[in-house]
Parts: sequence; C-alpha cells; structure tokens
Amino acid sequence: MIIFGSDHGGYATKEFLKKCLDKRKIPFIDCGCDGSSVDYPDIAEKVCREVLKKPDNKGVLLCGTGIGISISANKVKGIRAALCSDYYSAKLTRLHNDSNVLCLGGRTIGEEVAWELLEVWLNTAYSGDSRHTARIEKIAAIEARENAVGTCSECKE
Ligand code: RB5
Repeated sequence: MIIFGSDHGGYATKEFLKKCLDKRKIPFIDCGCDGSSVDYPDIAEKVCREVLKKPDNKGVLLCGTGIGISISANKVKGIRAALCSDYYSAKLTRLHNDSNVLCLGGRTIGEEVAWELLEVWLNTAYSGDSRHTARIEKIAAIEARENAVGTCSECKE
C-alpha cells in the first residue's frame, strides 16, 4: 500500500499525486493533512508507523522543501526516506538504498516533476545486489548503536 502524508506546504502536490494514482486505479491511504497548518514531524511519524506495518508498504511525504519531513522520517527506525528532486536519484534510491519513503518538496518542484519522480520510484525494484545490501545493513547497525547509547553500562558516567 502507498501511504501519503504532507504538511500544508506539500498539500497541493499531494492532492495532485493522489489524482494521478486515482486515474491509474492505484490504491493509497492519505494520512493528512487536509490543507490546514500542521507540523511536519507529526505527519512524518504517522506515515512512517503505517509504512512499517507491512514490508511492501511505501510512504510518500511532502512538505514545502521536503527537508523537514525527510529529516523527521529518517528518525524512525527502519525508515529509509529519500528526498528527491531529480529522476536519476528517485530511480537510484530504489535500486541502491531500497528506500521505503519518498520525500518531495511541494514548493521546490512542479507537480509534473513530482509525478515523474513518484512514478519511477514506485516502478523501480531494489536491485538486491549484495554490495548494496551490506550498506543497508550498516545503516541498520548505526540505528541499533544509536538506540543503545545511554543504555550501555560502559557509556554511563
Ligand atoms: C512549513 O512552512 C515549512 O517549514 C515546511 O513545509 C518545510 O518546508 C520544512 O522543512
């Protein structure tokens, strides 16, 4: 399932992308916002928690620049959120990073570009290459070490 979320800065582009998926009869869930002012970390967390419920789920997050919402999304363990504004990056982040969340800037790219990026991102599978898998595992290892900080007796003063 594709799960959308945006703050007010990404709302218009989110609505455009939803129409693109509707036309193609591709199902999705929208976790908000409804156009009113919201805080992007709240939306990022909501969408990411949904994404993590099933391995094939994918999230699409938008804010004004895409930056705040991507920083927030990447704080959630297991999320690999990629902020993209060009076709090559949108394709490569699926092939190499197996990104499970695409972040877009509603005020930095046009709607048609946003759709082009979403389309290639959705249609590109992870390469499964062992070199890339090893790197993704290292990302997970950073997360694990980060979670352990402060809980290890050696780290305590
Ligand atoms: C909200 O005005 C704006 O700060 C937000 O949409 C985003 O651009 C933050 O990174």
